[in-house]
Amino acid sequence: MRTLKHVMIGAAGLALLATGAIAEELTIVHGSVGRDQEVLRAQLDRFEAETGHEVTIVSMPESTTDQFGQYRLWLSAQSPDIDVYRLDVIWAPQLAQHFVDLTPHVEDIIDDFVPAAVESQTVDGRLIALPMFLGAPALYYRTDLLEQYGEAVPTTWQEMTDTAQRIMEAERAAGNDDMFGFVFQGAAYEGLTCNAQEWIVSYGGGRIVEQDGSIDINNPAAAEALTLAASWVGGIAPEGVLNYTEEDARGIFQSGNSVFMRNWNYAYALAAGEDSPVRDSFGVTTLPTGGGEGQVSAATLGGWHLGVSQYSEHQDAAIELVRFLNNYENQKERAIVTSRPPTLLAVYDDPDVAVEQEFIPLWRPVVENALPRPSAAVGRNYNEVSAAFWTAVHDTLSGNGTAEENLAGLERSLMRLRGSGW
Ligand code: GLC
Repeated sequence: MRTLKHVMIGAAGLALLATGAIAEELTIVHGSVGRDQEVLRAQLDRFEAETGHEVTIVSMPESTTDQFGQYRLWLSAQSPDIDVYRLDVIWAPQLAQHFVDLTPHVEDIIDDFVPAAVESQTVDGRLIALPMFLGAPALYYRTDLLEQYGEAVPTTWQEMTDTAQRIMEAERAAGNDDMFGFVFQGAAYEGLTCNAQEWIVSYGGGRIVEQDGSIDINNPAAAEALTLAASWVGGIAPEGVLNYTEEDARGIFQSGNSVFMRNWNYAYALAAGEDSPVRDSFGVTTLPTGGGEGQVSAATLGGWHLGVSQYSEHQDAAIELVRFLNNYENQKERAIVTSRPPTLLAVYDDPDVAVEQEFIPLWRPVVENALPRPSAAVGRNYNEVSAAFWTAVHDTLSGNGTAEENLAGLERSLMRLRGSGW
């Protein structure tokens, strides 16, 4: 049922109503990390004023894994309550059947978007979501502490470990008991999959499941990476890191209590914010490499994209909203205020963005080379594959079995999940 809403609407909205268009009440579901929702609300206010539609945000918990569980419930119940979903980059192959194919609705703009982002949201030729922003994590470090202790910015995980240990010990000896060396996302959820994929790929240990569907995770390089990571817990990283998501890690780093942090791009704008204790004393660099010959830095590809539910009763207005939130002006605002890498190519070259958010142009090559998770390779099995992976990693970090034992068990689980094919 389409209903006229009984609220004040802007002049543009009134004009629209006069032309016969109908003002709709829309709902967008959206996770809450950093300042994302604050910017979203401001953009929705402008959308409402321009169109006469009204949009309510349904706020989700921070963890992408928790969001996925809730979204699956709504979608399998074919709920019309949500019109627009903000979807994690990895979900398109699993949720495709629940979303409107946006292809015919964005033909005029789609060539302006980062091609790899569009490809990641295309399943069997259907565009499941219009890319909103991307993610490629960084190693955040304290410039003041590295300088004070005469340490260089580390380029390998082992150097990072050693530098973190030395500075942490020196700071504690000087009375700074709260100081840690490194914080990351160690809770048992999708965020740990992202972190651990980076460690393992940078040691040459493969990509959990390769693009051709083969499983090569039970190998010495992967075990070496996980063994080093396990040594961090209760050492350079607090024991509590086993429960940390993105915002927990940022809280410690931004309050000045960690030398290093692995986090996504959104943390940059916040750590550089006016109220941040580290605003003038941090820098970012690419994540470390394994250190061996030919070993590379690996940053997992992240991002969130906007899809229109098949079960929405306001699909035209929902498509209008998805287009609006991804237009140049709104992407530019997001890039500047939240330091989220845009999906419109031209925003990377915008002179205002270069001046007001230096991280965006600086990080463009890292975003372009970011490493997708095996969500395309394993299709509808991705959540199960990722859960098996993060469980094996979390067990290893918790001292519940060695890396070798847990990787052998993981290999068996993945083989079972694959059966005769993904
Ligand atoms: C970020 C990324 C997303 C990833 C999540 C893991 O939100 O954008 O792709 O799945 O972190 O915690």
